Amino acid sequence: MTTPTTQQVVAPKKRGSEAPASPSNALDHLDEAARTCALLPNLARIELIRKGTVIEHSALTRALDHTDWLLTTPEEHGSHGMLLMGDSGSGKTTFGELVQAIYAKDDDRRIVIIDASGARTMREVYGRVLQSLDGPVSRTMHTPDREMAVIRILRLLKVRALVVDEIQSVAEGTPRDQRRVLDGLKYLMNVAKVPLICLGAPESERSLVTDRHLAQRLKVFRLEPWKVDNDFLDFLLAVLAQLPLRKPSLLRDERVLEFLIKASSGGLRRIMSIVTSAAVQAVLSGEERVTLRGLMDAVDVPSRQVREGGVHGG
Ligand SMILES: Nc1ncnc2c1ncn2[C@@H]1O[C@H](COP(=O)(O)OP(=O)(O)OP(=O)(O)O)[C@@H](O)[C@H]1O
Ligand SMILES: [Mg+2]
Repeated sequence: MTTPTTQQVVAPKKRGSEAPASPSNALDHLDEAARTCALLPNLARIELIRKGTVIEHSALTRALDHTDWLLTTPEEHGSHGMLLMGDSGSGKTTFGELVQAIYAKDDDRRIVIIDASGARTMREVYGRVLQSLDGPVSRTMHTPDREMAVIRILRLLKVRALVVDEIQSVAEGTPRDQRRVLDGLKYLMNVAKVPLICLGAPESERSLVTDRHLAQRLKVFRLEPWKVDNDFLDFLLAVLAQLPLRKPSLLRDERVLEFLIKASSGGLRRIMSIVTSAAVQAVLSGEERVTLRGLMDAVDVPSRQVREGGVHGG
């Protein structure tokens, strides 16, 4: 998926609030922006479908609300943070990118994102922060020097928040390394006064809350696997309202929800991959809507040959 800066972010509508289908406007099933896109040629529509849309579902809203509180609380009150946990493909990185995109708009203060994969010591974490800010970092630079450089650069650039993705990595070091990483994270919040947004696998909670002080300052949010319920229906309807297909997809059928949850084990990456693939196929075949059959067939992505052969229509 491309970064959310190039994507639209949409919130699901309440069920039943969709405009009734009217013969005067055959594209009533779509949100306003998607209606214009639905008139584009096939190739352009396929590109849009594959680019994806970030849907602000309810778990995302809760996490975004807390982020907003963190970023708008005056820093003299001391910095706090949050931990957003979820399985692989549940939308953690998407959330971090979304936060960056939202707050880049209204402020020239940066949101810094680092990927902590494989970083088991604070030295490495500091190295990644410096790298991401094009700051001074040499292999021989010791931890205290890196720490000072990080604090200086975070202050100098008035960094608004630090997002640490794949935070579970820091729990993979020795107990001594772990202790130091936790102390280092607290230090960053205390001294640099930068809110800390941690994104990680569910096991990250266990390692971060071993520290009582850190646990008090990191509010925990979860991106749970999806299941067959109204939240998932709302999410799916919001996705469908964004897909530039020319006919309404009749997916209120519970079998559709059941199929998607079963085929994906509730993982968002897989759900989106199946829906996207079915939507691309619907453009190529001229069906122009997503159906249960289409979703079942889309468990495998359309072959390159089919895609290339079918994109020349209007
Ligand atoms: N809010 C959203 N709306 C629509 N699609 C989403 C949303 N969040 C995530 N996705 C879809 O799920 C995919 C996986 O999301 P993402 O990479 O953010 O997951 P992750 O939790 O960071 O996974 P990993 O742990 O493997 O890094 C995205 O590429 C996108 O297709
Ligand atoms: Mg990720």
